[in-house]
Amino acid sequence: MQILQGKKIVLGITGGIAAYKTPELVRRLKDQGADIRVVMTTAAKAFITPLTLQAVSANAVSDSLLDSQAELAMGHIELAKWADYILIAPATADAIARITCGMANDLLTTICLATSAPIAIAPAMNQQMWHASITQENIEKLAARKYQIFGPGAGEQACGDVGLGRMLDVDDLVTLTCQFFQSNTTLNQVDLSGQTWLITAGPTREAIDPVRYISNHSSGKMGYAIAQAAKLAGAQVQIISGPVNISTPKGCEKIAVESALEMHQQAIKLAKNADVFVACAAVADYRVSNIAEQKIKKSADEMHIHLVKNPDIVADVAALKIKPFTVGFAAETQNVEHYALGKLKRKNLDMIAANNVALAGQGFNSDDNALMVFSKNSKTELPLASKHVLAAQLVELISQHQIEK
Ligand code: PMT
Repeated sequence: MQILQGKKIVLGITGGIAAYKTPELVRRLKDQGADIRVVMTTAAKAFITPLTLQAVSANAVSDSLLDSQAELAMGHIELAKWADYILIAPATADAIARITCGMANDLLTTICLATSAPIAIAPAMNQQMWHASITQENIEKLAARKYQIFGPGAGEQACGDVGLGRMLDVDDLVTLTCQFFQSNTTLNQVDLSGQTWLITAGPTREAIDPVRYISNHSSGKMGYAIAQAAKLAGAQVQIISGPVNISTPKGCEKIAVESALEMHQQAIKLAKNADVFVACAAVADYRVSNIAEQKIKKSADEMHIHLVKNPDIVADVAALKIKPFTVGFAAETQNVEHYALGKLKRKNLDMIAANNVALAGQGFNSDDNALMVFSKNSKTELPLASKHVLAAQLVELISQHQIEK
């Protein structure tokens, strides 16, 4: 599913070292179906060439307000009107200051002034420059004017400093851009700062012998997307994860486990300090009662494996004396609503997100999903969308219900 199909996006690139990431950003936005026109400032061209961006965007790059050829057709106004959305990444302190003041002294700032399209800004600068009160005032003013502020992230900087000011990763920028187009709300409006979210994700593996196990098709994509969405909204996020092949969202802590028993132990330990617990993992309901110490040899025509029930992780978290707001998932192949409501009640959950895992193109191991979310007295349908978009919608829904509780 291409979320940005037919969307016209102006990517403004200003002069920061993170400009070297923009060809990848263009490619990833195009992967989602967007048509990209790149506008570069003079300083941006010191970090990356217009030719590279022209090649990846498959469109001419604009870089001058005083380009007599382009201005024959009023180039700056044409681009300002063409855009459905303007993303400025990286946005330097200087560019942010000029935009805040309403200056129009280059093509990019002029387009910002002349457009009615929403504008998102991905700040990228030295941590001291980011923390400078004048930069913070500028950001506050832009946010108050409904500019979206994507990031910045924290970490080691090109100058050797450590702190806030890094441009968000390309993945995060693409996700946030997609979220803008998919939902009327954005994670910018959900503030989870000060909260801890604990999320289980991926499959569990129940060993049979040292080389074999029982597992399922969970890829971890849904759980990791929820983790990323909660992190982007400001929460501290821990993921208790079964074995998966996807990377941990930036800034989230991953606790790697294999079996349901290990996942259970970690969940009970960490849930006491969590505000929200989301059980997205596909946990094996049963485990092998006697795991063979050595590889089982082939002999008889039939073999039987004796299984015993695993503890129910989400039900045990919901039964804690001091419990987090507890959200379960229900993976069903039939009677989705009926079974999900049964699990909501039986496990004493605050909320449950049900998905039909029998339908093609959603559920286990796909990039998209659709959810029906139930609480005791509400039902919300989240139609087919990328797991990242659904995750943002689910995080917002959880946050609303958590406040109401
Ligand atoms: O990982 P992906 O490939 O992205 O796929 C996502 C998903 C399909 C795995 C996900 O959307 C999903 O449905 N996760 C829950 C899978 C599941 O185990 O569902 P269930 O209906 O069997 O379990 C109900 C709830 O109880 C779930 O929250 C589950 O995590 C929890 N559970 C189940 C058994 C157990 N022993 N302990 C548990 O906590």
